[in-house]
This record gives sequence, C-alpha cells and structure tokens, in this order.
Amino acid sequence: MSFVIAIDGPAAAGKGTISRAVAQKFGLAHLDTGLLYRAVGKRVLAGDEAITAARSLRPEDLKGDDLRRSEVAQAASRVAAIPQVRAALVDFQREFAQRTGGAVLDGRDIGTVICPDADVKLFVTASAEARAARRHAEDVLARPDLTFDEVLADVKARDDRDMNRADAPLRAAGDAVTIDTTQLDVAEAIATAVQAINARRGSV
Ligand code: DC
Repeated sequence: MSFVIAIDGPAAAGKGTISRAVAQKFGLAHLDTGLLYRAVGKRVLAGDEAITAARSLRPEDLKGDDLRRSEVAQAASRVAAIPQVRAALVDFQREFAQRTGGAVLDGRDIGTVICPDADVKLFVTASAEARAARRHAEDVLARPDLTFDEVLADVKARDDRDMNRADAPLRAAGDAVTIDTTQLDVAEAIATAVQAINARRGSV
C-alpha cells in the first residue's frame, strides 16, 4: 500500500528537516519539491527562459550546493509564479508520490494541488523572525557580512510572493495539521510531526 505525506509551509519553517526525518522513520521516499523550482530559477539566472527550462529539467539539474543560495531561492520564487512552469513540474511530482511504498513530498502546494488526497497533510510554519534567525545562523558561516535584517527582508519578500501568487499559492489545506515550530527545537518539531502522522496512520 502506498502512503503519502504532504508537508507544506513557508521558507525555513523546518519542513525540510521534518520531511527528511519522517521519511527515514517511516521508510518512505522523499522529494524536496523546492529543488525543482530552484533548478529552474538557477537556469533562468544563467540566461535560459523559464518555461523552456522547466520543460527540459534533467536529474543533474537538481544537484549542487549552489541551489541553496539566496539569489537562487528568490529566482525560484519568481519562476514559481508562472503557471506554465508549475504545470511542467506537476507530472514528475505526482509520479513520485505514487511510488510503491509511499512518499513524503514537501513544498508549498503539495496538500492543496499536487496530492490533494494525501494520507497525512502537515503545514509547518513559524514566525518570520524565527525563520530568518535560523536562516541567518546557517548562511552567515559562508557570508560573514550578512545581516539578520537582510535575511528577514528576503524571507518576507518570498513569503509575500509565494502566498499572493494567483496559481497554487502557499496556504494550508483545509485538512492539514498545523505545526508552529517558533518555540520548538528540532527534536520537538520532529516528535510533533511523528505524533500527528501516527494519529492519522491509525485511522487509514
Ligand atoms: O522550499 P524552497 O525554499 O526550496 O522553495 C523555493 C521556492 O520554490 C519557494 O520560494 C517557492 C517555490 N516552490 C513552490 O512554489 N512550490 C513548491 N511546491 C515548492 C517550492
């Protein structure tokens, strides 16, 4: 039987960490769907046209540390507002979700658009300040001049674009369990997610 977990939420709320942990715990495959949009954003920064890039993505485009850069994240958020870019990425995500044994997908529209029938939907969120503080602590190691305010402005700009686009905006599905990680450490956030998944698994 295939078991699908959809995890959505804004940037740096902890959904990547939670997704990897629950995928490992429950023995499921994991797809970070943000990587697809980051790969398209990176190709656009290199001069490609967004829709053409989305239609011709290759597995090797999803690899590389530079996909984590903040310019690439902002470019990802911009290309993600183009309906034809989103449409070009739907089949790959749905096929991944159908793999035998089940899957965890994390992103912005997994519970609402990509997998509306997912067995469990989580919406992982946190205050913009808490998310910016986490992102700043990670990124300042590589860029010592980076200020908290710059990161906060980036986080808010991305939230605004992701929540207010017309096509598949970031929002919690009606049947999602919301986990606010503002006051939680990593272990507590993972434990809360596992508890919510176990509660649903018992009733599937
Ligand atoms: O999860 P992330 O930060 O890697 O995502 C980068 C951008 O990609 C995000 O700002 C919006 C877009 N995205 C999306 O629109 N839909 C998804 N399912 C995943 C990401």
